[in-house]
Amino acid sequence: MKIMEIEGGKDLTGTIRISGAKNATVALIPAAILTDEEVTICNVPEITDTDSLCDILKELNVDYKRASESIVINPEKMKNVEIGEIFSKKLRASYYFMGALLGKYKKVVMYFPGGCSIGARPIDLHLKGFEALGAKVTSEGNKYTVEAEELKGANIYLDIASVGATINIMLAAVRAKGKTIIDNAAKEPEIVNVATFLNNMGAKISGAGTSTIKIQGVDHLGKCFHEVIPDRIEAGTYVIIGSLCGNPLKIDNIIPEHIDALLSKLEEAGVSLEVGADYVIVQKQEKYRSTSIKTAVYPGFATDLQQPFTVLQTQMTGKSKTTETIWENRFMHVPYLKDLGADIMVKNQTATIAGPTKLKGCEVVATDLRAGAAMVAAGLKAEGKTTITSVEHILRGYEQIVEKLTNVGAKITIKEI
Ligand code: EPZ
Repeated sequence: MKIMEIEGGKDLTGTIRISGAKNATVALIPAAILTDEEVTICNVPEITDTDSLCDILKELNVDYKRASESIVINPEKMKNVEIGEIFSKKLRASYYFMGALLGKYKKVVMYFPGGCSIGARPIDLHLKGFEALGAKVTSEGNKYTVEAEELKGANIYLDIASVGATINIMLAAVRAKGKTIIDNAAKEPEIVNVATFLNNMGAKISGAGTSTIKIQGVDHLGKCFHEVIPDRIEAGTYVIIGSLCGNPLKIDNIIPEHIDALLSKLEEAGVSLEVGADYVIVQKQEKYRSTSIKTAVYPGFATDLQQPFTVLQTQMTGKSKTTETIWENRFMHVPYLKDLGADIMVKNQTATIAGPTKLKGCEVVATDLRAGAAMVAAGLKAEGKTTITSVEHILRGYEQIVEKLTNVGAKITIKEI
């Protein structure tokens, strides 16, 4: 078991370089199997979610080579075999193999995906989308078989603008006959990145990044070279850490407009920010104004930044509120923040945070990926030692977190116990 130890209360000074986006990478790797030719993806983060998807590539007999920050995938000798439960369950994004394999072979057999326990996380919209394209879905317990004689383009309206369903339907529809229109599509930058990748391979997708995506099916997808966009959630997490401890801290290699909602909330709180073309410099302040947030689909305030933002709210003067609208179970970090000294009350889907409160290190748990990021932020701000268990969750999404923070002056280590 791994634990993380942080000796908090230190100022952080220097530059943190942001890696490629986890939530784009986890769709790009499955998308790569839609061709039979070699695909190169660069700016790939070295996180355990990437490793888990490579394990699935291996199961499917897909050749791949990983080098520093890149992966070359060659599906020439690929076999469409069942993806075992152990692989499907390792991460949420295993479900992107559903759309990709269905698109390529018109058949896929795999299990219900895993991922952070932040809500029920159904996949009904994905399956309804596949059915609209002409597939038949059968399930036995957790095992799903999705197959079609032929996939035919269709008009699909998503009841919820789901990131996963939008991408998964796109993956199946690129190889369908005719035209598919996805209405009420999600608009996250990761979706645009995946659509660009597919277009580079020869797909005909327009409208990605808007709520209507049009896909004209094609018979063949070919080789390509592609770059993963910077991770806006990693960037946002470090900008929040900079607001707590930066003196000053530069967050580099980012697309600032992808975190616009966060930046305006930080400005409202009184954080000192310099926003450049591909960086943000943050200087912590003595006092912050209370600031409330409500999570929303992109370009609203990202649910994935809500938990780290709560840590900053503990340092604001007066009462701040956080309302979570995407996931039913995303306040699991709150009891641990309270152990660290925060004053937080949760009622229904809203947390009320009274501040400022002094944080003091103690033992806490990373209950999920972003709860873990919140524990790291709190541990860096807190006086004394914070020990975080279930660190595996954090390593699923933050590349070289220990090295990146150590380089700017943090006292942080991971130990195997
Ligand atoms: C993606 O999850 C991200 N994961 C999540 O990031 C992120 O929190 C989420 O989008 C929202 O931005 C990946 O990209 C791998 P959704 P996804 O489908 O696609 C409901 C992180 O910390 N829904 O947009 O699974 C669902 O229950 C992670 O990096 C259905 O009801 O999210 C939720 O309430 C965690 N039926 C809402 O839609 C469905 O079939 C949005 O979910 C699908 C979704």
